[in-house]
This record gives sequence, C-alpha cells and structure tokens, in this order.
Amino acid sequence: MIENSEFDFENRIVSPEPIRQDVEDDIERSLRPKLLDEYIGQTKAKENMKVYIEAAKKRGEVLDHVLLYGPPGLGKTTLSEIIAHEMGVNCRKTNGSAIQKPGDLAALLTNLQEGDVLFIDEIHRLSRAIEEILYPAMEDYALDIIVGKGPAARSIRLDLNKFTLIGATTRAGQLTAALRDRFGVISRLELYSEDELCDIIMRSSVILGIPCDKDGAKELASRSRGTPRIANRFLRRARDYADVIGSGKLTKDMVDIALNRMEVDKLGLDELDRRLLRMMIVSYNGGPVGLDTLAAAIGEDPVTIEDVCEPYLMQLGFISRTKGGRCATDLAYKHLGMTRDGQMSF
Ligand code: ADE
Repeated sequence: MIENSEFDFENRIVSPEPIRQDVEDDIERSLRPKLLDEYIGQTKAKENMKVYIEAAKKRGEVLDHVLLYGPPGLGKTTLSEIIAHEMGVNCRKTNGSAIQKPGDLAALLTNLQEGDVLFIDEIHRLSRAIEEILYPAMEDYALDIIVGKGPAARSIRLDLNKFTLIGATTRAGQLTAALRDRFGVISRLELYSEDELCDIIMRSSVILGIPCDKDGAKELASRSRGTPRIANRFLRRARDYADVIGSGKLTKDMVDIALNRMEVDKLGLDELDRRLLRMMIVSYNGGPVGLDTLAAAIGEDPVTIEDVCEPYLMQLGFISRTKGGRCATDLAYKHLGMTRDGQMSF
C-alpha cells in the first residue's frame, strides 16, 4: 500500500542532509567553526584528532588518512575543513559519486600540493575500479597509469605529492575491508547531546544576531534529533515566526509555536517518522517487518529510512532491529498515543 501525500520528503525540515533553503541561504557555511577549539561536541573524535595533528606537525609529517563515519549532518565536512586548517594545508572536496572515470581521480590527485587534504564525501559510492587506483595512492603516494592496449599495455608509476585522504560515509559497512584498512584513523561521529546542541544554537544565534534565550535554545535543541544541521535550520526558521508573529525573540513558547507549525513534535519527529511508526504498528502489528517492505509501504527510499530515520528512532528506543526485521517498541506506541490492542491511549 503506497500512501500518497503532498509532503515534500526531499526537503523535510528535519532532514539531516542539506536541503534547498540551507544551500540557497549559504548560511550553513558561515556557521561552521574553523578551529578544533571552536568545534562543540564529538569530544572523543576531537581530542584524538588534536593529538594526531600535533604529532604530525611536530614530526613535520603529513597527517595519516582519516575515515569519518556516522549519520548525516553531524559535521564530517566541517571536521575535515578544520583538520586542513589546523594542519595549514588546502582542503579539496569531492564526492564519491562524482568520481566516475580513473581520469577524474587522477586529475584530483595530481593537483594536490604537499600535505593537502583530499576530502571524499560518500566514499562508499566509489566504484571498485576507482578504489583500486586509490590503494597505491594512499599507501605509496603513487599513481599507476596503464598506457597502450592489449599485449603492448604497460603500467607507468607516477609519484604524487604526499597527501591526507579524509573519507566520509554514513555507511561504513559498505566499504570494502581493503579500503577501510588503508585508513590510519577511523572515527565514528555520534549524535549530539541536548547540552551540546544547546551550545551550538547559542553560538549560531550570536553569529547570526538572532535574540534567543537559554530556554528557547533548549527547546530547539531537544527537538533537533541530535543533529547540528537540523538545529541551525530550526533556529533560522523559528526566527521567521518570532519576527512575524512574535516579539522577535526566541523564547521557549515562541520556539514551541514555530516547531508545532512546522509539524515537528516534542521529540523532533516529523510526518515521515510518524508515518513509518504508524505503518509498522497498524499494518504490520508492530513488526517484525523488513526494511524494503516498510520502505515500499510508505513510498520512501530504503536508504533514507535506514540512514536518516532509523538512527534517531533507535536512539529514542522507538525501533528495535531484530533478525526478522524492524519492530516498534512500547515507547513508540506510547508516543503515538496507541496501545498494542489497537486502542488509542490518552
Ligand atoms: N555548527 C555546526 N556544527 C557545529 C559544531 N560541532 N560546533 C560548533 N558549531 C557548529
């Protein structure tokens, strides 16, 4: 059963991926911290990175290759830019899906200066053929180029400047072991705590000149799904409501009105999350139900469900993953005001 709706899932306000308004506003960029000391949260990853950067600088070496993985919107790109900035080198950014031909990767690699960072977002989207070119580039800073065809074909080795590859992915499990093993540093980014998001919102409100009190920031933080990109987006949209229907200041009540109008509930769930849970409960008796079945039932891409909805719903304890599929927990029933015997609870 596919439910039709006018809801624009591509641009859902709680999307951890950049949406139209983030890109158009170009504000996300202005909010990004430039130094590790300005970067809030991800304490473990940050403290370890500090040591690796200092050690590499002390020895005059290039930083080892880094793999950053975790849900979208947590600051993988920002962290790469900070690493490059702290190392005093350039950061060249690309996406795994943009590197189609060996020549695309060769052009990127041969243009790097000594010590530069090459950031490849969605590195799991590289083809096997491209991955194989990366191996000698990562290990020996060399590019093996095949010249000629058939029996006359031979390989020429081209030396590259030493560089740091920073790979980012939401799906570390999809990387081949061969690629994963070539990263010296592997760091998992976690969803942010409410306190960390609150600090990020207060910092952003100062940069953007948005009056926001502590309770307003707390309310935004508690509904931002552990994701700074969402927190910063909510801050800007709530400001619109404050300017038009409020006093211009983001208080707890003002934020509550704004987020309710955006159909984001107290825990940060939007219509897609609620539809997903309702479908599991009403049509599949609470589960277990397979990811693809569920995705088809609500007319959504399984990858979006797995990467975007599930990490937060699992953190809330609303979904559990079992061998047989996904199950809705008692907490999910309670949040939707439903009970296992099909009654509504109030
Ligand atoms: N803006 C977005 N993410 C941030 C972070 N981790 N620290 C500070 N500001 C941010």
